[in-house]
Amino acid sequence: MAARQLVVDVHTHLYLPRYASILRQRNTVPKIVTRVRDDGCKEERLVILKDEPSGGRPIGASYTERNEKLKFMKKHGIDISIVSTANPWLDFLQPKEAHDLAVKLNDDLEEYCSTSPTVRGTSMKQLYGFGLLPIVPHVGIDSLLETVKQISASSHLKGLIMGTRGIGKGLDDEELDPLWAAISEAGLTVFLHPHYGIPQEAWGEKDNGHVLPLALGFPMETTIATTRLILSGVFDRFPSLRLLLAHSGGALPQLSSRLASCIVHDPIVASRLKHDARFYLGKLYLDAVSYGSEELGFVSDVLARSNRYETGSNNVDQASRSIGSGRMLFGTDHPFFPPLASSEKWKSVVENLDAIENVQGWSEVDKIGVKGGNAISLFNL
Ligand code: URA
Ligand code: ZN
Repeated sequence: MAARQLVVDVHTHLYLPRYASILRQRNTVPKIVTRVRDDGCKEERLVILKDEPSGGRPIGASYTERNEKLKFMKKHGIDISIVSTANPWLDFLQPKEAHDLAVKLNDDLEEYCSTSPTVRGTSMKQLYGFGLLPIVPHVGIDSLLETVKQISASSHLKGLIMGTRGIGKGLDDEELDPLWAAISEAGLTVFLHPHYGIPQEAWGEKDNGHVLPLALGFPMETTIATTRLILSGVFDRFPSLRLLLAHSGGALPQLSSRLASCIVHDPIVASRLKHDARFYLGKLYLDAVSYGSEELGFVSDVLARSNRYETGSNNVDQASRSIGSGRMLFGTDHPFFPPLASSEKWKSVVENLDAIENVQGWSEVDKIGVKGGNAISLFNL
């Protein structure tokens, strides 16, 4: 029972030292650059977005050093983190380089996790990971399948993180079917995470820093990629595929009934799918990185409602609400969005934990689940 009350962070990133040193050697995006600040001190900046505003973002030891991750976890009462390489993963490499680096980084991450301390009073480690695939344009499917095998043989890697571009045509590309089959077969969870946002022209000419690409562009990218997956029938072909969406699934919960209606009015698309679009939402897992209790409550009701499409019931009662919250998992997005003073607690943790605590209609058991119990079950920790 005690294990059920642990806090598990499923959305927390790193750049392994091997990866960071590659970014330091590059002159084009993605890269890490050193610049001299106005006060004369040197600082490193991470430049990973196309048209990145403000000369990138400051990057420090919290991005690369395991000790910093463990200190952050201790400061905020996080017992276990399931860490993933941050964007843009291997997207900028050619297939052979991407493959070789994926294999090395997966080994590095397995070691990073397997040599981490155990959670007091349990046999669980404090760190587990999501591995990487060399999923870049023109990569051979064999290279992807080999890496899935490597990840599933690495006992501390519980899934893999993936962007939205696939092998060049997005994730609704039928060429990826053998990959979905292998991932489902291996029982791995895909953590789907954005990087590209939506085209820069959408943001106008005002300098709004990183606000629009991160607050809106990222979640819209996830929304579009997941909708395309649903429309392609991937969840009908691979019903046991487990997908964890970043940032609570972006706008998909808000738009799911509209999506269902548009499909019904488009018979060619409708004939491709076995279920109402809202049914597929109930098959997804969403992180609880939305910073507000109303949003979390809404999202869990939408997930719960998808149950209606199996049972024919119209009720969102306590039992079905728990089905909704049972698919949501706490996350922080560390080390992004650091506080201005290093002594402060991070808003990303405080706000996301408070949000879980204050959802109207979630029982104590639901909250314990979202904070950690759901992750312990999903990842079989
Ligand atoms: N969160 C991420 O994971 N990546 C970013 O670039 C910014 C926030
Ligand atoms: Zn993230």
